[in-house]
Amino acid sequence: MSRFARAFAELLAPATGLDVDELAAAIGPPPRPEMGELGFGCFPLAKLLRKAPPAIAAELAAAVAPAGAIREVRAEGPYVNAFLDPQIVAREVLPDVVDRGDAYGTLDIGRDGCVPVDFSSPNIAKPFGIHHLRSTVIGHALVRMLRAAGYRPVGINHIGDWGTQFGQLLAIWELEGDEQRLREEGISYLLALYVEFNTRKVEQPELQDRARAMFKLLEDGEDEARRLWKLFRDVSLAEFERVYAMLGISFDDICGESFYENRMGAVLEQLAGKQLLTESDEATVIDLEAWDLGTALVKKRDGSTLYLTRDLAAAEYRHETYTFVRSLYVVGAAQALHFAQMIKVLDLLGKPWHAAIQHVPFGMMRFDDRKMSTRKGDIIFLEDVLVRAVDLARETIEKGAREKGRELPENIDEQAHKIGVGAVVFNDLKNRRTRDVVFKWDEVLSFEGATGPYLQYTAARIASMKEKYGRAVSGDVDFSRLSDPDELRLALAIEALPHSLRRAVDACEPSFVADRLLDIAARFSTLYARKDWKVISEDEPLTAARMLLAASTRQAIVNGLDWLGIDVPTRM
Ligand code: ARG
Repeated sequence: MSRFARAFAELLAPATGLDVDELAAAIGPPPRPEMGELGFGCFPLAKLLRKAPPAIAAELAAAVAPAGAIREVRAEGPYVNAFLDPQIVAREVLPDVVDRGDAYGTLDIGRDGCVPVDFSSPNIAKPFGIHHLRSTVIGHALVRMLRAAGYRPVGINHIGDWGTQFGQLLAIWELEGDEQRLREEGISYLLALYVEFNTRKVEQPELQDRARAMFKLLEDGEDEARRLWKLFRDVSLAEFERVYAMLGISFDDICGESFYENRMGAVLEQLAGKQLLTESDEATVIDLEAWDLGTALVKKRDGSTLYLTRDLAAAEYRHETYTFVRSLYVVGAAQALHFAQMIKVLDLLGKPWHAAIQHVPFGMMRFDDRKMSTRKGDIIFLEDVLVRAVDLARETIEKGAREKGRELPENIDEQAHKIGVGAVVFNDLKNRRTRDVVFKWDEVLSFEGATGPYLQYTAARIASMKEKYGRAVSGDVDFSRLSDPDELRLALAIEALPHSLRRAVDACEPSFVADRLLDIAARFSTLYARKDWKVISEDEPLTAARMLLAASTRQAIVNGLDWLGIDVPTRM
């Protein structure tokens, strides 16, 4: 809640009988700028006072005496609107931004509470697909936002490195595995082997049995099976690592599903102890029909455990290791049932901490471009997407330099990397996460519109203004020079950044921060596009005041992008 909304709520409270928090929560910006900066709709009072909202609004406007940053209060239909004093707003907001610098907007609402965030979590021997991109990017942003909000996040990569599919891989490996090729081609080769297994098993059904037997060997720790499994794992991890390096991501804990293998017994015992297990011919299951959650499989007939069982062990392990205040799982919406089952089973096992666990689902991503798809049309390699984005960013920079007859920038590699990668990341995060996203290359990399490059460009442009200004930006300026309504709106948008962070963290919704950054940049661009407004002029006190506003804009954008996991090139 903005401090000004709060101040307005405090003015209104005595006249309404509502409490300040309740009022403040209902205050928002009116639809049009000429209606003021803050508005309160009198609807909730209508019943209480037995009067029509417009009449109440008129009475309130007359009863409330403006004070502090609130210079005028006016009724507008059923609303009471407040007009803020731009000078006071600027003085209260801007010096704080430049003083706090990189820390501007950070909060301490987390009180150092630990929050494991399970994200990315790709599967070994399978390509890092586009849904893993979304998990990686959203999860990374959550980790950074939680940290900025004062929590102690722990980024966990729950690698899919266990399960019967490894039996399949070992079975086909036995027939035609080639270590040389594996080392050269990496995951693509493992993928080709899978495809081969599935083709062959149609003609040779006995391969299926062989796969089961091989997985058993692996579970029993047979040397060669273990060695190969480890090799597949290492090759895959090295490939994933390249993607993480491009994105600038590291994890606090890379714990694969295999890590929980020796904890399966304890989980099954607990389940049995609570009489939760039912034996069917095919498997051991937990009946969750009473909660509309179907039946959950925990063990197959051949004794091998399942994804859910490993997640139950992992949940318990995380609780023991981190005593978390929240525990997040950033995984596609397709696994909603899985997580609902997991949480319910933990509840049935009598773990009160199940309530702190939250599945953070997200929608699908589609590409408008067939070129990025493989023959099967559904697998897109994340690394290819990132590499292509960086290439396209480089082309744009080269084209720009050519058109302006300039030399290529010295830091073209840095620029192309940050713009390309930032574009892909922002394109994902700007959407409400549960929405499906269509990935359109020309939109993603555009320097205009709601894109990462647009935000980076706005920040870089201000950086070069600062350079041209040549002096340190001071928070001690003549605030009467910042009296333009557009300047006021910009200062208010900057002031709202920490509130957006709080909402984003509470709702696990990075797009709240993304929206705020776009709003800040758009408000700056509005000023910048005006013929009668420029930052640097002959008028020194005016320049100092506008430089403060511009520098605060840049700081807000840089900080917000940093929380989202996006770097800003020093110049563009
Ligand atoms: N490896 C899984 C997949 O790619 C995602 C794992 C998510 N995390 C978890 N704890 N289940 O579908």
